[in-house]
Amino acid sequence: QRKMILDLDTGIDDSLAIAYALGAPDVDLIGIMGSYGNVYVEDGAKNSLKILELLGHTDIPVYVGESHSSTSDHFDRMQVSANIHGENGIGQVDLPEPKRAIEKESAVDFLIDAVHQYGKDLTLVPTGPMTNLAAALKKAPEIATEIGNVTFMGGALTVPGNVTFVAEANINQDAEAANAVLTSPLHSTMVGLDVTLRTLLTRKETQQWRDLGTTAGEKFADIVDYYIDAYRQFNNNLGGCALHDPLAVGVSLDPSFVQTLDLNMLVKYGKEDYGRTIGDENRLNEPTNVKVAVQVDTARYLKTFMEYLTALFKQ
Ligand code: BDR
Ligand code: CA
Repeated sequence: QRKMILDLDTGIDDSLAIAYALGAPDVDLIGIMGSYGNVYVEDGAKNSLKILELLGHTDIPVYVGESHSSTSDHFDRMQVSANIHGENGIGQVDLPEPKRAIEKESAVDFLIDAVHQYGKDLTLVPTGPMTNLAAALKKAPEIATEIGNVTFMGGALTVPGNVTFVAEANINQDAEAANAVLTSPLHSTMVGLDVTLRTLLTRKETQQWRDLGTTAGEKFADIVDYYIDAYRQFNNNLGGCALHDPLAVGVSLDPSFVQTLDLNMLVKYGKEDYGRTIGDENRLNEPTNVKVAVQVDTARYLKTFMEYLTALFKQ
């Protein structure tokens, strides 16, 4: 079984990332780190606990991470996210107060310890800002080459950003942190808007969850319908909601869902181009450390996504 840690700003698609990891065979989800963005860091961690409890997994610990960028005055919650994810981050759906408490250890220390313990057997999937990972790399630089797999949701290479013309939301929260990660010796796979805007979910699929007649199926349908409606209103009616975060989990487990370009990447953080993810012109002839997903097998991914989540919600 593959050891996995998710680093989330939970959020609707972050909740789907949890469900995908729990539904996938051969994954041992050893913990969830909390980040900020869709919600404040504490609320995100609490949402993760609520989702875990809804899915019958009170055994998984949740750790709170950094509450904002350490290098810029970017926000501790994206204001527009209330429109997309709801004020509470999970589509205004009420879930019971979680029974399990948030862990006392910090998310950053949890990650460092886990990398030391599991090394190449460990997969990390960050689907919020990279503040926690950058902090861990600063504190324990050796983890960059010890960790097995880092697949993150963030950035955009071949399409415009979703916050500004150049910046995707997760990177825009903390471009300096993302730059520190991408220019470190760490190897990672970038699952950005290039591919996540090509994996869309509609009310047809959420109706299938509703039809299961279980609490998990019904609550997830309610949560995701909010997101689908928000996408209709704010995202030029793409035809569904983007499966950003669960796609990153999927790619971490099965890289053949996407086609990638091997590149050295950096993140701009000047005033004009804050959050832009782009190839590093000074490292064009060096060995590469980032695989950037640029194309996705939408049909096969969606089939797998529905298989895993429907089986999970049925229980
Ligand atoms: C990313 O931003 C967040 O709102 C989503 O959860 C996703 O991680 C998409 O740009
Ligand atoms: Ca997210």
